[in-house]
Amino acid sequence: MNKTIAILPGDGIGPEIVDAAANVLETVAERFGHAFAMTAHLVGGAAIDATGAALPPETLAACEASDAVLLGAVGGPKWDALPADRRPERAALLPLRAKLGLFCNLRPAKVWDALADASPLKPEIVSGGIDILVVRELTGGIYFGAHERAADGKSARDVMGYSVEEIERIARTAFEAARKRRRKVASVDKANVLETSKLWRETVTSLHAAEYADVELEHMYVDNAAMQLVRAPGRFDVLLTENMFGDILSDEASQVSGSIGMLPSASLRADGFGLYEPIHGSAPDIAGRDVANPLATILSAAMMLRHSFCLFDEAEAIENAVRTVLARGVRTADIARGGVPYVGTRAMGAAVCAALRQ
Ligand code: IPM
Ligand code: MG
Repeated sequence: MNKTIAILPGDGIGPEIVDAAANVLETVAERFGHAFAMTAHLVGGAAIDATGAALPPETLAACEASDAVLLGAVGGPKWDALPADRRPERAALLPLRAKLGLFCNLRPAKVWDALADASPLKPEIVSGGIDILVVRELTGGIYFGAHERAADGKSARDVMGYSVEEIERIARTAFEAARKRRRKVASVDKANVLETSKLWRETVTSLHAAEYADVELEHMYVDNAAMQLVRAPGRFDVLLTENMFGDILSDEASQVSGSIGMLPSASLRADGFGLYEPIHGSAPDIAGRDVANPLATILSAAMMLRHSFCLFDEAEAIENAVRTVLARGVRTADIARGGVPYVGTRAMGAAVCAALRQ
């Protein structure tokens, strides 16, 4: 299979972790007889420094022309003082999501066997295992409504809107994903207060009754969902949320699993095209020192193979290689516990490539 992958290293640790993941993709290509053409493009603060814009038109065009996008991370203190709408997060990430039509954000949060003690929760709470897939709506809601400040500067408003069509397509994705897992969807809203949430609940309920009665559905207010995530995380299979609730709950879910450096994500369009990135940020404090954990980016590359290229064996090969490496005790600093020795970004990437070749 021949595929073109746009590589967007971005800022902070982005270039290092993306480099490790690109090597893993190269190794998969060799082992399974594929060709992945990978070209790097500027994004985020790096793009602001070089061109003045966080998302240069050439970068967007390269993403549009590719079969999938691999992103490291954007942002850092150097660009924090810029006006909000020119900062890397708002000027690069959000337009990328909107312009590429990436309405569906998948954020799996699970505990790897070898890292079972990583969760900050008590053992009796996590002993049943944690394996949650957050399905977050990514191109609607309050992120993309008007953001306004009154002329006198003394009041502001952000508008949250949703349509039945937007709710239905993300709910459909969640139900389909649940069918391949434990067949449970918890749909999160604030229907006791918000009109958008009432529409959300009605729409999810109708779609469920019409097409997905084989999947167990529960509705949960967002405050309760936040509580249940730390009280009984094992009860969740698929967690379906609108954009902002998903932003918040996916950070919580990642922390509950205990290893934010391990968590990948996919942002997908209806036709399977997608942007893949680790869910952690650019970690400017450790950038350029070969200490960042590349596994979340490597696992994001596995998601790319599965969701955009339908290369299921290849995706599993990467995940198995990661499992093998962890079982052998190879650790980066963030997942090394109790003073065990650890390796750097490059060595971790090389260990995964070596496991893939075996
Ligand atoms: C995320 C991030 C972004 C979001 C920020 C950087 C705009 O927190 O991907 O979760 O809020 O969506
Ligand atoms: Mg977030």
